[in-house]
Amino acid sequence: MKVLVTGGAGYVGSVVADELLCAGHEVVVFDNLQQGHKEAVPVQAQFVLGDICKPGALDGLFRQFNIDAVMHMAAETVVEYSTTDPKRYFQTNVAGGIHLLNAMLKHKVTKMIFSSTAAVYGEPQATPINEDHPKNPINAYGLSKLMFEQILEWYGKAYGVKHISLRYFNAAGATDRLGEDHHPETHLIPNILRAAMNNEPVPVFGIDYPTPDGSCIRDYVHVADIAQAHILALDKLDALSGKACNLGSGRGYSVIEVIQAAQEVTGMKIATKVCPRRPGDPAVLVASASRARSELGWTPRFFELQSIIRSAWLWTTRCPQGDADDD
Ligand SMILES: NC(=O)c1ccc[n+]([C@@H]2O[C@H](COP(=O)([O-])OP(=O)(O)OC[C@H]3O[C@@H](n4cnc5c(N)ncnc54)[C@H](O)[C@@H]3O)[C@@H](O)[C@H]2O)c1
Repeated sequence: MKVLVTGGAGYVGSVVADELLCAGHEVVVFDNLQQGHKEAVPVQAQFVLGDICKPGALDGLFRQFNIDAVMHMAAETVVEYSTTDPKRYFQTNVAGGIHLLNAMLKHKVTKMIFSSTAAVYGEPQATPINEDHPKNPINAYGLSKLMFEQILEWYGKAYGVKHISLRYFNAAGATDRLGEDHHPETHLIPNILRAAMNNEPVPVFGIDYPTPDGSCIRDYVHVADIAQAHILALDKLDALSGKACNLGSGRGYSVIEVIQAAQEVTGMKIATKVCPRRPGDPAVLVASASRARSELGWTPRFFELQSIIRSAWLWTTRCPQGDADDD
């Protein structure tokens, strides 16, 4: 198939693009490079610089390429900023997504795998969180993703768009070629590793959460395993259309535990700096990924937190400047 990956110059999107090519698909990446890196786009993929908020650019894209399916990853993604500047999140993640769907319909493309998030659930009422858990997002990022999931349902019912929403928990780790390189970086593991390299303290945002050591607990899932789930979702789209699947390991680690694991992987002592809680951060987010396993046939290859951190550390030491160009 010829697969359009929106946001394919970003962290998850570039790994998904690599995995699609390995699976024998053709790939077109559409990205405005506000966060992504052109160098992260595989050389075998076709790259189009453009913005999902511009309907004309999307129309041109679908005119130029005979797209069979879309993996939609382009988004505003920083949870914290979404609480102070929600308009960008609704503009890109909701309005941009609608422009994309409308362009798809116009060009008779009816397959979409959507990058959703654990943030659609909000504060968990039960752990681990399964897909039927109530959806009460506590930040505009999570709400924007939930809104788009709901919009997709209507485009499915009314216009026959086949879709699966993959709700990632915390994507982490690196492949041989690609790692996490956001500016600013708000994700824990890359920040710990950079702090280790630069001999700086790692900020710990809140140690007064109702968790055993007071720091937030999250579920880390390797980016290559996330990419694999996208391939499976595309293969099973006809059978599973309309479903959402969590992508997580089912095991949670506190911020303090992640720092300890990073110390073991790097062999370095990593200092911490206690900071106030970040707005919009639930205390605990751990997935039940049994639906992805049983229905998608997903078998994550990276199970141990240490192996996830090790892959990120290898990439960080090999590419200390990240994915390089910020053009
Ligand atoms: N990384 C995670 O832990 C995580 C967790 C849950 C969900 N997600 C979702 O997965 C997707 C990918 O996340 P990521 O961590 O790779 O983020 P990322 O920021 O690295 O990638 C997003 C890409 O989208 C591009 N983009 C942003 N706005 C755009 C626009 N208007 N038009 C075209 N391109 C645009 C950016 O330049 C970037 O390359 C996002 O949709 C995110 O919400 C990520």
